[in-house]
Amino acid sequence: MSHKETVSRTLLVAFLVCIVCSVLVASAVVLLKDDQLKNKQLDRQRNILAAAGLYDGTQSNQEVGELFNRFELVLVDMETGLVATDDVLAAAGVDISKYDQRKAAKDPSLSIKLDSAEDIASIKRQARFSQVYLLRDDGQLESVVLPVHGYGLWSTLYGYLAMEGDGSTVKGLGFYEHAETPGLGGEVDNPKWKALWPGKLAYNDAGEPALHVIKGKVDPASADAVHAIDGLSGATLTSNGVSNLIRFWTGERGYQTFLQRVREGAI
Ligand SMILES: Cc1cc2nc3c(=O)[nH]c(=O)nc-3n(C[C@H](O)[C@H](O)[C@H](O)COP(=O)(O)O)c2cc1C
Repeated sequence: MSHKETVSRTLLVAFLVCIVCSVLVASAVVLLKDDQLKNKQLDRQRNILAAAGLYDGTQSNQEVGELFNRFELVLVDMETGLVATDDVLAAAGVDISKYDQRKAAKDPSLSIKLDSAEDIASIKRQARFSQVYLLRDDGQLESVVLPVHGYGLWSTLYGYLAMEGDGSTVKGLGFYEHAETPGLGGEVDNPKWKALWPGKLAYNDAGEPALHVIKGKVDPASADAVHAIDGLSGATLTSNGVSNLIRFWTGERGYQTFLQRVREGAI
């Protein structure tokens, strides 16, 4: 050890290195926060467009923004199944431009506790207001994009179910977050499986929820074919989770009343 290399000097250098590094990390977090938020928002927009069949990965960020701006955001009051009026939102202290449904689902004052019999998607609580995106063309409702989520085998799957303007025909389904096993439950992201959804009918002639995932392959000749989706092979538990969450969100506690209004042409 040279006479300059003392224990206190070593500790001082280590301390200064720690300070410099923490300043660097903290500044990176602060400086990149805006970019992270923008990317998160862009990602959400892409997922909403993808569910509605409007994004295939080739569009630029600007095009995504422009397409997304054609959508109208409404908050559906899950207590009534109707679009929440300004009065209802004001009474609940909700600002539509700042509303975050996933945060709200964890906030007892902004969410509804589900009892176990109705909680078929295993989500425990649901946000009172759901962020639903409407796309009109010349005043005609073209797409209704509905946030959905529910438990699979290992994780909660979060995604969007898009419906045609008739309120019953599926336009697409896509999950943007889950932790199912790649190659098994993770096949929910497989474009071939996702291609099975468009054209299926969410409701039967009596207006009851009918869309579901079966075990095995759908027999195209069966009466149920129009409501049924092939299960993922080797991943029946995730498939059941998807089936349950679809049943929940198309059901009474989900968007059944709202979609009935869509089918009646009232939206
Ligand atoms: C390591 C591991 C990961 C698994 N991941 C999943 C999964 O993500 N989703 C799923 O449904 N099944 C998964 N399984 C399989 C389930 O335990 C179960 O066997 C399967 O869902 C039954 O589906 P099948 O009747 O189509 O074979 C996994 C099994 C193992 C050993």
